[in-house]
Amino acid sequence: MPLTLSRRAVRTVQSEIRAMSVACEKVQGINLAQGVCDTEVPEPVRAGAKHAMDHGINSYTRAEGLTAIRQAIAGKMQRFNGIACDPETEVIVNSGSTGAFYAACLALLNPGDEVILFEPYYGYHLNTLVAVEAVPLYVTLRAPEWTFNREDLERTVTLRTRAILLNSPANPSGKVFTREEMEWIASFAKRHDLFVFTDEIYEYFIYEGQHISMATLPGMRERTITMSGYSKTFSITGWRIGYTVCDQRWAQGISYFHDLIYVCAPAPLQIGVAEGIRNLPESFYQEIGTEYVQKRDLLCGTLKEIGLTPSVPKGAYYVLAEVSALPGRTSREKAMHLLDMTGVASVAGSAFYHGDGGENLLRFCFAKTDAELAEACRRLQQLPEKLRGKALATNVRA
Ligand SMILES: Cc1ncc(COP(=O)(O)O)c(C=O)c1O
Repeated sequence: MPLTLSRRAVRTVQSEIRAMSVACEKVQGINLAQGVCDTEVPEPVRAGAKHAMDHGINSYTRAEGLTAIRQAIAGKMQRFNGIACDPETEVIVNSGSTGAFYAACLALLNPGDEVILFEPYYGYHLNTLVAVEAVPLYVTLRAPEWTFNREDLERTVTLRTRAILLNSPANPSGKVFTREEMEWIASFAKRHDLFVFTDEIYEYFIYEGQHISMATLPGMRERTITMSGYSKTFSITGWRIGYTVCDQRWAQGISYFHDLIYVCAPAPLQIGVAEGIRNLPESFYQEIGTEYVQKRDLLCGTLKEIGLTPSVPKGAYYVLAEVSALPGRTSREKAMHLLDMTGVASVAGSAFYHGDGGENLLRFCFAKTDAELAEACRRLQQLPEKLRGKALATNVRA
């Protein structure tokens, strides 16, 4: 037998977003491809982690995470999300919400189980399902408002469907699911006896509408696996602190698999996040909305001005723009052209669709410092001129 990669590895591809970041680095461009979130880390979070490190909190923690952070998360779940949970048995600290979802899939899905994803989807959701040999099914949201209806759900489900994944506010569409849509999903999940995995990582990044947690809807607490984290809220994507809140029947299995893969989330960083949750005032979270809506409007205004029509997001910090004006047959070619012409990296829309639904779309991230976002917009504004130059050059050659 020749040496080969596993069948699983052959099916799992490198994230398109990482690939674009590498291309961007090569030309020293501005990376609006990845959601790096390079704004400042709040002081109590940094100080809390440093204090913990200096005072010997540097060892493995128990699998579910340190008591201080689990209690802080349980308090926040009650205050912000309206979910009452027991910090001892129903809260697990994870290596990011990415680690939360991977462990939850291993604990709750069997190979061959189907899971419904809304499309455009976040690539890690799809690839995690593929890695655990679950089968994705797609419900495609209709642009520009990213709508769906109950029939779309009923048409997709089969007897092998075990779960549906809800990401609100959503990456990449910026959709904030309405209460009515959440109620459709809830009654659908109950009728077909499905788990609902919710990825609520952008819960504080809301510009229009309101964040609603699925577990607060009647009868949904026991079947909802609520996942979130502090990567985005505290600008600590490299710290890897996320969490799961769910019924204790599921929590033990999720904790077991999380322990197996990651052992625990970094100990002093758990304390930093706990201090942040405990000490930051309400206004901190409200300011996220105010700060990011300005970034959104700057980027969307620029995109509109240069003829790449944006679908203005209601939440999260990405914009999908319609880019048929750009040269290139595929969205990947269009993204490369844009990088060549302006030095601004985006992500090809094809990264968010299983078919060809994304070929005229590019995704831009606006979680950037004001200075960097302003420079990206300045460069993007040169696009019409560059396109005219390109058209002229083509005409001369012809
Ligand atoms: C929808 C969504 N979920 C999860 C993550 C990653 O979160 P974490 O850093 O907590 O693993 C991202 C990051 O871009 C995301 O967009």
